[in-house]
Amino acid sequence: MDSKFDHEPIHSSDRGRAGCDSILWSVPLSHPLLADDEIHVWCATLDQAPSYRGKLAETLSEDERQRAARFHFEGDRRRFIVGRGLLRSILGCYLNIKAGELAFCYNPQGKPSLATPLQIHFNLAHSHNLALYAITRRREIGVDIERVRPVSGMKEIVQRFFCAAEATHILSLPEEQKAEGFFNCWTRKEAYLKATGEGIAEALNQFEVSLRPGEPAALLHDAMNPTEASRWALFDLKPARDYAAALAVKEQLLQVQFGQWTADISNQATDH
Ligand SMILES: CC(C)(COP(=O)(O)OP(=O)(O)OC[C@H]1O[C@@H](n2cnc3c(N)ncnc32)[C@H](O)[C@@H]1OP(=O)(O)O)[C@@H](O)C(=O)NCCC(=O)NCCS
Repeated sequence: MDSKFDHEPIHSSDRGRAGCDSILWSVPLSHPLLADDEIHVWCATLDQAPSYRGKLAETLSEDERQRAARFHFEGDRRRFIVGRGLLRSILGCYLNIKAGELAFCYNPQGKPSLATPLQIHFNLAHSHNLALYAITRRREIGVDIERVRPVSGMKEIVQRFFCAAEATHILSLPEEQKAEGFFNCWTRKEAYLKATGEGIAEALNQFEVSLRPGEPAALLHDAMNPTEASRWALFDLKPARDYAAALAVKEQLLQVQFGQWTADISNQATDH
């Protein structure tokens, strides 16, 4: 989540609990086969054993190592290394390329993509100790995940950053549903802006998403691209209890498959 309103550090006392976040997706996907009309979404824990972490670290590029070295807190550094290492493993597996040989480039807002166009699009997100990776072909994709938790100053936040209808809907939810509605809204908006590559630097209040608990994920309208909204599909993801997550892709009628990425699968990619 953006530091605009809440950056939740993981304190050392949280680590055991966070490491136990149980991923609800278990069945491995049929990777690396990825049909044209499919999206694969993997969830993985960032809390990996030191030996495996070391192996993942070896696959990072020089700029990724430098970025890792700049983190102030060791926990943040470890999660970044594992997050990037797993991204490399996953993509390497789909592309049959060694994880360490992949090269990324970035748009001006920081969205990573493969430096060599290989007909694979991806996006990743992390919250606490979980990471989500979305992979598809030939279309831009965005993903977001957040741990659902109480948000202090929610009223001010939604009125400042969300569009008026979203703020009204969230604030009119029963008290016990407010956090879920808030994070439904947040993750759907962020997934959309990560798919377009803009990020959340601006425009958060220029479009509206559905958010009520139980309501299907949808982009309702986009003031800046009024004719575009109907071309986008948003999906609700439930990778773990107490997490909200969403996926955005500019195409309808795609199939989404979910799986948990484990060290075993990853080893096949980093070993070859
Ligand atoms: C992208 C953004 C929404 C991510 O927010 P976040 O909640 O902190 O992080 P998430 O867990 O959702 O996602 C992080 C991942 O998204 C990806 N990402 C980064 N920028 C992105 C963008 N503009 N669009 C899509 N994905 C992006 C990266 O892979 C990153 O993972 P990494 O840590 O391995 O590099 C936020 O950083 C943002 O708005 N960035 C844009 C800032 C900007 O406009 N900068 C201009 C240049 S100064």
